[in-house]
Amino acid sequence: MKQFAVIGNPIAHSLSPILHQEVYRQLDLDASFKKIHLMPNALHSFMNVNELNGFNVTIPYKQSVIPFLDELDESAQTIGAVNCVHDGKGYNTDWIGFTMAMEQNGISLNGKDCIILGSGGAARAIAFGLVKFGAKSISIKNRTQSKADQLLNWINSIFPNNNASENSDVIVNCTPLGMWPDIKSMPDLEIKKGQILADTIYNPLETKWLKTGGERGAKTIGGLDMFIGQGLASADIWFGEKISEKIKLEPIKKVLKSELC
Ligand SMILES: NC(=O)c1ccc[n+]([C@@H]2O[C@H](COP(=O)([O-])OP(=O)(O)OC[C@H]3O[C@@H](n4cnc5c(N)ncnc54)[C@H](OP(=O)(O)O)[C@@H]3O)[C@@H](O)[C@H]2O)c1
Repeated sequence: MKQFAVIGNPIAHSLSPILHQEVYRQLDLDASFKKIHLMPNALHSFMNVNELNGFNVTIPYKQSVIPFLDELDESAQTIGAVNCVHDGKGYNTDWIGFTMAMEQNGISLNGKDCIILGSGGAARAIAFGLVKFGAKSISIKNRTQSKADQLLNWINSIFPNNNASENSDVIVNCTPLGMWPDIKSMPDLEIKKGQILADTIYNPLETKWLKTGGERGAKTIGGLDMFIGQGLASADIWFGEKISEKIKLEPIKKVLKSELC
């Protein structure tokens, strides 16, 4: 039996085991998936002794895991964060999950003026996805301006970032504003009819920001599709085949939603 896991701290609320177990059920794969709660001082020994066939990495280890890896794939190297490990190699599938979610929802990023809210790890991965999928411009809004400047400098170093227009086509929330239990908060930004609002948050499934955006005529996409996408992209790497093209998404969404409601 192949064995997989997700490591993090905290990890109790991770939905990754439910996602992956549903994949194994659908495809009749002989595999298991567990959560591993790791304290920071245990990361080194975990990396030396674990015999897993692959694992996901979540907060706060997406960067600190890198020195323990033999190599990084191109996207993890560029983004500087790893959320998926296989055979000593680090990958970043968060950006793939985001672009898969956009495609599933019929959104083309090509030629779009985009705003990212936040400047942490998710913001960086999503900026990479926007670049890869042909965004026209990317601007950043963040609570701490110096971090927004840093992220923008990095984006400008990998991409000829055209000056952002005031009328952004796409806004992606990469802050925890609106995440359970703080469900009444939302980013403070004007929302315009016809804009595309994508949230990285999936608990709740529809944040207050998305609900408000929908009422104002924006097209909205919750974070669950991105979460599923990053998990399926990880399974593609671990099994060396296109698991993501073989599975049915609706049963996965159903089982995850039942955990969230
Ligand atoms: N759907 C998915 O698959 C997926 C994958 C990855 C992440 N996520 C979600 O993405 C979000 C960000 O994750 P991350 O890993 O990027 O976290 P992170 O590295 O800690 O970055 C958090 C960002 O949010 C900002 N922020 C935090 N609290 C805020 C507040 N109260 N008001 C305004 N801004 C605030 C921070 O601003 P400062 O710079 O000022 O601190 C920072 O820019 C989380 O909600 C996470 O659950 C979802």
